[in-house]
Amino acid sequence: MSRTWFITGTSSGFGRLLTGRLLARGDRVAATLRRPEALDDLRAAHGDRLWAARLDVTDAGRVRDVADEAFAALGTIDVVVNNAGFGVLASVEEATDEQIRQVIETNLLGSIHVVRAALPHLRAQGHGRILQVSTAGGQTTYPNFGYYHASKWGIEGFCETVAREIEPFGIGLTIVEPGATPTGFGGALATAPTMPEYDRTPAGDSRRALADGTFPLDNDPEKIARAMIDLVDSGEIPLRLPLGSDTYRHVRESLVARLAEHEAHREVALSVVRDDLVTSG
Ligand SMILES: NC(=O)c1ccc[n+]([C@@H]2O[C@H](COP(=O)([O-])OP(=O)(O)OC[C@H]3O[C@@H](n4cnc5c(N)ncnc54)[C@H](OP(=O)(O)O)[C@@H]3O)[C@@H](O)[C@H]2O)c1
Repeated sequence: MSRTWFITGTSSGFGRLLTGRLLARGDRVAATLRRPEALDDLRAAHGDRLWAARLDVTDAGRVRDVADEAFAALGTIDVVVNNAGFGVLASVEEATDEQIRQVIETNLLGSIHVVRAALPHLRAQGHGRILQVSTAGGQTTYPNFGYYHASKWGIEGFCETVAREIEPFGIGLTIVEPGATPTGFGGALATAPTMPEYDRTPAGDSRRALADGTFPLDNDPEKIARAMIDLVDSGEIPLRLPLGSDTYRHVRESLVARLAEHEAHREVALSVVRDDLVTSG
C-alpha cells in the first residue's frame, strides 16, 4: 500500500535517505528542508510524488503554514517524521548561549511546532502516525552532550504525553532512537572554545575520541531508514524503537541503573506520605 509522508530535515542523513527510499518504492513525500536545491535530483527522478517546501523548524509560524500547505496539496498524510536536528559538542560550561538556544529551539521546540501543526489535520482525517527521531541520548547521557540531551530527553517526555493524548483519535506516535551513525551529524556538530580545566575529565576524553576519529559509529544509516519504514509497514506502534547496538546496550545499562537506584530509595520515597494515609503493614 502506498503512503504519503511528511518529513523534516531532508537535505541529508536519515531524512534524505528516507525520502529517497520512499520515492523509489512509489510513496509520496512532502519533504521539508532549509535548502530545497538539495533535492533537485530526487525531484527530477520522481516528479510530483515529491512535494518540497523550504522550512526551518525553529519558525513556528512557517511550520504551521507549510503543514497546512502540505495537507492541502496532498490530501492525506499518513506519516509525519520529525527528523530535523543537530548536536552541540561542548561541556555545559563551554557551550555558548546561542548554541544552547539553537539546539533547544531546533530539536525540542521545532519538533513540538511540527506535532502541533500536524495534529489538527491528523485528527480531521482520523488516522496517521508520528515518528519522532530522538536518539539513544534521549534515554542515556554522554559527556559533552548536555544540551543535546536536554533537547532530546525533553522531546521524549513531550512525546510520551502526546502519544497518550492522541491514541483515542487513531493517531500513533513512536520515538525512534538511533545510535551513533555516520550521517552529516558529526560534521554539523556545533563546537565551542574548549576549557583546559576539562582536558583530564570524561568530557576531555570524549572530545579527543571524536576529534581523532576513534569514536565508534557502528550503525548503518540505510538500515536505520529501512527500519523506520519497516516499522510503519508492520502496523505496530511501539512507544519507542531503539536502533543500534550502542542504543540497545547504553539505554539498557541506564535503565537497569535507574531502576536499581529507584528501588534503593523505596523506603525514603514511602516515608514522606501523610500520616493519615499510612496504613499499617
Ligand atoms: N547520526 C547520528 O549519529 C544520530 C544518532 C541519533 C539521532 N540522530 C538524530 O537524527 C536526526 C537526523 O540527523 P542525521 O544524523 O541525519 O544528521 P544530518 O545528516 O546532519 O541531518 C540533519 C538534518 O536536519 C536538518 N536541520 C538542522 N537544523 C534544522 C532546522 N533548524 N530546520 C530544518 N532542518 C534542520 C539539516 O538541514 P541542513 O542541511 O539545512 O543543516 C539536515 O537536513 C537528528 O534529529 C539527530 O539528532 C542522529
